[in-house]
Amino acid sequence: MKKILVATEKPFSKIAVDQIREIVEAAGFKMELLEKYTSESQLLDAVADVDAMIVRSDIVNKNVLEAAKNLKIVVRAGAGYDNLDLDGCTAHNVVAMNTPGQNSNAVAELVFGMMIFGIRKQFNGATGAELRGKSIGIHAYGNVGYYVGKIAHGFGMKVYAYDPYVSADRMKSHGVEPLPSVEDLYRTCEFISLHIPATENTKKSINKALLSLMPKGAVLVNTARKEVINEEELVELMAERNDFIYLSDIIPSNADVFKEKFPGRYFFTPKKMGAQTEEANVNAGVAAARQIVSYLNLGDETFRVNR
Ligand code: 3PG
Repeated sequence: MKKILVATEKPFSKIAVDQIREIVEAAGFKMELLEKYTSESQLLDAVADVDAMIVRSDIVNKNVLEAAKNLKIVVRAGAGYDNLDLDGCTAHNVVAMNTPGQNSNAVAELVFGMMIFGIRKQFNGATGAELRGKSIGIHAYGNVGYYVGKIAHGFGMKVYAYDPYVSADRMKSHGVEPLPSVEDLYRTCEFISLHIPATENTKKSINKALLSLMPKGAVLVNTARKEVINEEELVELMAERNDFIYLSDIIPSNADVFKEKFPGRYFFTPKKMGAQTEEANVNAGVAAARQIVSYLNLGDETFRVNR
């Protein structure tokens, strides 16, 4: 009997796990569960005889791929797959997939939760500001960016986006104003919401030169990846500009510096929370389980991200 491992250091909700199990068992497979593991060796033991894996931000590196002798497919239940060694997967004949769009609304809603928290002075009783009438720049208009735009319209914000991979017509059809360059986006918008993946090209690309273009009262919201930020330069900028707020769903490597130097002007969730809703857990988990069944039974490679 084929074994499907759900390996989630940050667990899905019970209802999502139950639904994954139902799909796996209905297909005649067995589900195994490894949650809240604290060392790589636990993961290496758990993958030893599995045919498929569902992960979240869990690291699937060379060690994991070498330990998982029977592995045929790994599905990242979520959007960003920078945690998967794609070349390693290909070398081990493992298909890698993600589940695009399944957790996007959850992430987009958190963007607004964080923005309101940030501009209402973290609910400390002082006078804050409103979103209505302000400009928001969506940096990368994928699934999350789309939902951010939709919600921003509800708040009465002016919505702009920059994404060289998405047509201007698509953005315009959603009432989003496309801007021709990333500099234009940062120059135009008081709020910037990051939705770029962490790649060799984007790492540290959000730097001082770009951020200093933002108008007074700038708020940078990061629900993407910490690697895309040039953290040293962000600190430099915030030291020079006391109007600048940084809100991140990923704790930066230099979090202590923010704590010491910028009280009230930053907020970091203790653990990545964007996709941590029951709905997103179910959507992404169920999609991952279905994709695995469909691949193992029919060879369906939709959503494959390695070649
Ligand atoms: C994603 O890329 O889908 C999000 O960052 C969510 O990651 P998580 O599943 O680890 O919460």
